[in-house]
Amino acid sequence: MQALSLFINFLLIVLAIGYIDAFTRNDFPEDFLFGAATSAYQWEGAVDEDGRTPSVWDTFAHSSNYLGNGDIACDGYHKYKEDVKLMAEMGLEAFRFSISWTRLIPNGRGPINPKGLLFYKNLIKELRTHGIEPHVTLYHYDLPQTFEDDYGGWINRKIIEDFTAFADVCFREFGDDVKLWTTINEANIFAISSYSEGFAPPGHCSPNSLFNCSTGNSSTEPYLAGHNMLLAHASASKLYKLKYKNKQRGTIGFSIYAFGLTPYSNSKEDEVATERAKDFLFGWMLKPLVFGDYPDEMKRILGSRLPIFSEEELELVKGSSDFIGIIHYTTVYVKNSSPTPSLLPSRQNFFTDMGGVTIFMGNSTFFEWDAVPWGLERVLEYIKQSYNNPPIYILENGKPMKHGSTLQDTPRIEYIQAYIGAMLNAIKNRSDTRGYFVWSMIDVYELLSGYMYSYGMYDVNFSDPGLKRSPKLSASWYTGFLNGTVDVGPQAITRLHSNISGSSSF
Ligand SMILES: *[C@@H]1O[C@H](CO)[C@@H](O)[C@H](O)[C@H]1NC(C)=O
Ligand SMILES: *[C@@H]1O[C@H](CO)[C@@H](O)[C@H](O)[C@H]1NC(C)=O
Ligand SMILES: *[C@@H]1O[C@H](CO)[C@@H](O)[C@H](O)[C@H]1NC(C)=O
Ligand SMILES: *[C@@H]1O[C@H](CO)[C@@H](O)[C@H](O)[C@H]1NC(C)=O
Ligand SMILES: *[C@@H]1O[C@H](CO)[C@@H](O)[C@H](O)[C@H]1NC(C)=O
Ligand SMILES: *[C@@H]1O[C@H](CO)[C@@H](O)[C@H](O)[C@H]1NC(C)=O
Ligand SMILES: *[C@@H]1O[C@H](CO)[C@@H](O)[C@H](O)[C@H]1NC(C)=O
Repeated sequence: MQALSLFINFLLIVLAIGYIDAFTRNDFPEDFLFGAATSAYQWEGAVDEDGRTPSVWDTFAHSSNYLGNGDIACDGYHKYKEDVKLMAEMGLEAFRFSISWTRLIPNGRGPINPKGLLFYKNLIKELRTHGIEPHVTLYHYDLPQTFEDDYGGWINRKIIEDFTAFADVCFREFGDDVKLWTTINEANIFAISSYSEGFAPPGHCSPNSLFNCSTGNSSTEPYLAGHNMLLAHASASKLYKLKYKNKQRGTIGFSIYAFGLTPYSNSKEDEVATERAKDFLFGWMLKPLVFGDYPDEMKRILGSRLPIFSEEELELVKGSSDFIGIIHYTTVYVKNSSPTPSLLPSRQNFFTDMGGVTIFMGNSTFFEWDAVPWGLERVLEYIKQSYNNPPIYILENGKPMKHGSTLQDTPRIEYIQAYIGAMLNAIKNRSDTRGYFVWSMIDVYELLSGYMYSYGMYDVNFSDPGLKRSPKLSASWYTGFLNGTVDVGPQAITRLHSNISGSSSF
């Protein structure tokens, strides 16, 4: 039975990547960057040490206790040297992390915390010393709680000035050693999950939504928050170009969550719904950044709920992103359901506005999904063709598995290599994709699954007081791929399978 199921599994994998030719690291340009990622609240821990104050994520994690919190997480704050050593051993070319705003500037604005400053300077120096390129995200779900309390955070235009001032400190203090900046992490899904659905910090939604949010308005806030994110990004980007770029020579981009989207059937309705979903999920942010305004379809459906850019703002936003950061995990079907903006405002939210239901493929669930590598290739093609082929960094891609279930994470390796192959196909067809980051470098505290599911190439034993790190098979696979000793092709997968026979719980 075991042998048969392994064999069938093997056949399926060969078929799944059959359209991808064998490849190695050397098939990518030399200056292409392969790395892995984490974010501040998910990795650092030490939440009330050395002057750090709470962010909305701390508050959110502590208000629903079933998923745990990032109080300790991986303790990256104290273990950063150990982790950079692991990255170097893994052969990572780049590391993506984020800066905790309230560690660097505890009041959100004003005085810099010397210990927070020192931590990030040390981390960046440690990375550079090991030849690892830092890619810094300025904002990853962790708004200073004080701004949420004072003025409602991202739904208030005051955030633009505060975010720009925070970015100014980061550029000034770290910009000599950081050449790659992302302003805001997965801005579209951030606006949706935090202000329409309420399942991400700060947890806003209308009173009758699925989640019991203490505040919010799902019919207006996601668009308002998204608008302010675009403006805050554009403002920080302008500042960078005026004040730092000549000297520091870095690039600055914006990132979105990018589902692969494909019609559920070949009916006209599902095709139209898929195009509309692309406008709502991609065009919402990419159209202003590349062409200067929101998609017509969104304007038509949302009317006055979609904020308007002034002429001056249009100019500011257009062209403000040197690259587009893509967070991509899976592809979903879109089944038609008509947008229902005519609902009572109390019933409106992002999804009733968009219409179209997204459905996971095959046996995918929210936490475990099928690898659909061609979905990434199509996303990259779509952005190339529809948005003037901007430079792209894939800032997250990876596979969740039950935390602690096995170090023999072969399904993760199969997933990653298939997606890297799909990305290579797109690059060969002239997508300007310049980097790829596995989420995550190490098991971290996860936004939607706490410590139940993890994505790391290194395991962390969260029950161990020392938070022991252990490499998974994926870490050694990535090392081999990056040092050119692993060719990805059907044979590589056969070898992998023979290595794990009998030892995997999958
Ligand atoms: C949300 O805002 C709209 C427009 O201002 C308003 O009509 C509606 O009542 C608000 N809904 C809630 C739940 O506050
Ligand atoms: C929301 O509140 C209702 C009533 O208090 C409760 O039954 C329900 O379980 C809560 N839902 C969530 C997601 O917390
Ligand atoms: C879904 O899972 C069931 C039970 O494990 C299996 O029989 C079926 O073939 C799977 N379907 C797909 C599309 O993978
Ligand atoms: C390759 O790019 C061309 C030009 O953009 C496009 O027409 C074609 O469909 C692309 N091929 C694939 C396989 O996506
Ligand atoms: C994790 O650490 C705890 C405490 O040190 C230990 O008892 C347990 O065996 C460890 N788990 C694994 C899988 O090593
Ligand atoms: C699989 O095992 C072979 C020999 O036992 C070894 O050379 C190879 O590096 C292993 N592959 C991985 C990815 O661990
Ligand atoms: C390449 O990576 C493999 C791990 O997959 C490792 O065993 C090997 O020593 C590395 N070779 C070099 C030349 O670094």
